[in-house]
Amino acid sequence: MSLELALLSTHAPSFLHEDQVPDFQQSILKAFHRQREKIEQLKPHVLVIISSHFLTNWNHYVNAAPRHQGFLTAREHPDTIANIPYDYPGDQELANELAAAGKEVGLPAVAFNESTYIWDYGTLIPVRYFIPNGDIPVIDISCNMSASLEETYRFGQQIGKVLRASKKRTVFASSGALSHHLTRGRANMPSLLEKAGDDKFIELLVEGKYDAAWAMLPQYSVAADVESGGRHVAVLLGVLGLEEFKASFLGYAQSSGSGNPHLVFESK
Ligand SMILES: [Fe+2]
Repeated sequence: MSLELALLSTHAPSFLHEDQVPDFQQSILKAFHRQREKIEQLKPHVLVIISSHFLTNWNHYVNAAPRHQGFLTAREHPDTIANIPYDYPGDQELANELAAAGKEVGLPAVAFNESTYIWDYGTLIPVRYFIPNGDIPVIDISCNMSASLEETYRFGQQIGKVLRASKKRTVFASSGALSHHLTRGRANMPSLLEKAGDDKFIELLVEGKYDAAWAMLPQYSVAADVESGGRHVAVLLGVLGLEEFKASFLGYAQSSGSGNPHLVFESK
């Protein structure tokens, strides 16, 4: 198999510049670097990432551009995330395979190759940490907001199937927060109920109880307003399958009322 590693990551704007990360988020900064070290050790041929800020209406989009290049000014924070250059290779062949695998099971999965497309910051912030030298191809995937969690999980299963069958060493990353009732004030914690949900969900992942995590997700994603309605997590669970991976918890911090965990899932 060549799906070697999966990551759950976050992307609070404060992580754009390391020297601006506040004290209460230092555990995540360390987690980003642990995740980068894992990638460096593995030397993968490609990183596939789904972002909870790449939100699309009807289709599951897979970015098949041979090169991702541009300057990101984030719609959500045009003053703080402004004109950030990026340049990473893509993997057109694998991206096309991922979309085809979705179509194979009747899902509206679409590969696109559009040089004017600009990444979202949910993609860019983790990728800047994971691939600091810009030397590993990236494929970014959307969260399709008209897809149910079940459909999204199914797409994740198809992605996992393609990555396992690939001759390339692959890493899958999911970028998004868990609880996500945003409030003004970067240091604000999630509510006690939301934090309890985050803790339980993380515990299930660390214990390898992916079936229980999947059973919890529909109710939890509504109660805690999980980012992207829980779709970035549903895809991750679909990719992981049931038993092949051992999860390690790397860190958690709040950001404007959201709960931000980092985990690595290593093949057993
Ligand atoms: Fe976000």
